[in-house]
Amino acid sequence: MKEFDPVKYKQMVREHQERDDPFGWFDSIYTDAKGDHRAVFWADLAPNPYFLEWLEKHPVKGLNKKAIAIGCGVGDDAEAMAAYGYEVTAFDIAPSAIDLCKNRYTESTVNYLVEDLFDYPTEWEGSYDLVYECNTIQVLPGRYRKEAMVAMVSLIANEGEILVSCRSRNKGEELDAIPLPLDQEEIDGFMDLGLVEKSFLAYDDDQDPPVPHFFSSYKKEKA
Ligand SMILES: C[S@@+](CC[C@H](N)C(=O)[O-])C[C@H]1O[C@@H](n2cnc3c(N)ncnc32)[C@H](O)[C@@H]1O
Repeated sequence: MKEFDPVKYKQMVREHQERDDPFGWFDSIYTDAKGDHRAVFWADLAPNPYFLEWLEKHPVKGLNKKAIAIGCGVGDDAEAMAAYGYEVTAFDIAPSAIDLCKNRYTESTVNYLVEDLFDYPTEWEGSYDLVYECNTIQVLPGRYRKEAMVAMVSLIANEGEILVSCRSRNKGEELDAIPLPLDQEEIDGFMDLGLVEKSFLAYDDDQDPPVPHFFSSYKKEKA
């Protein structure tokens, strides 16, 4: 059962952001779950269907391809990439998220690690054929959003791709929202960082009321 007080949550996030401690609250979301991954309020406990459709349409089994899940949460997306044949690294800045993943997937081939997107191991740079970003940018404030995009792009290997799944909003709207969805201009920033857009989908999810989302993919062309 997920117990979640949205008012307290937003106040806690805002307080951290106002004192420029944008990552200091993530671990508490997972420790509050007390070892039960089902109690993490933002965890869908299943990959986005558009992500699964992309994996299905881009088979890699036997090709020795590497993937990485950014801010992997409780691990559903990382496990999906592993099931589709990738050698997967999945990381999160929250140690208790990684503990939940390891306890949940005891037989996993995924390498679950506590790491910071802004200070990742140097050998990761340019190493991943597939980078998956789901809902991390939207929980970051101000300059950290663009810096996160730069860091994500730096992980992509030549001719590799990044898939981005996030909430969306119209430009100029919901300016104080937590999480703050991406607008079109912001997500187009992946192209400003030298990537080529391969697909772009704007859709409403099946919540009541529906929540608008983007699901898009970008490729790093051969250097
Ligand atoms: C909204 S959650 C999304 C989790 C998961 N991707 C999902 O879709 O369920 C954002 C995640 O990003 C992680 N995160 C935030 N900043 C990070 C950073 N600098 N490095 C690594 N992970 C980070 C948080 O701990 C959290 O697990």
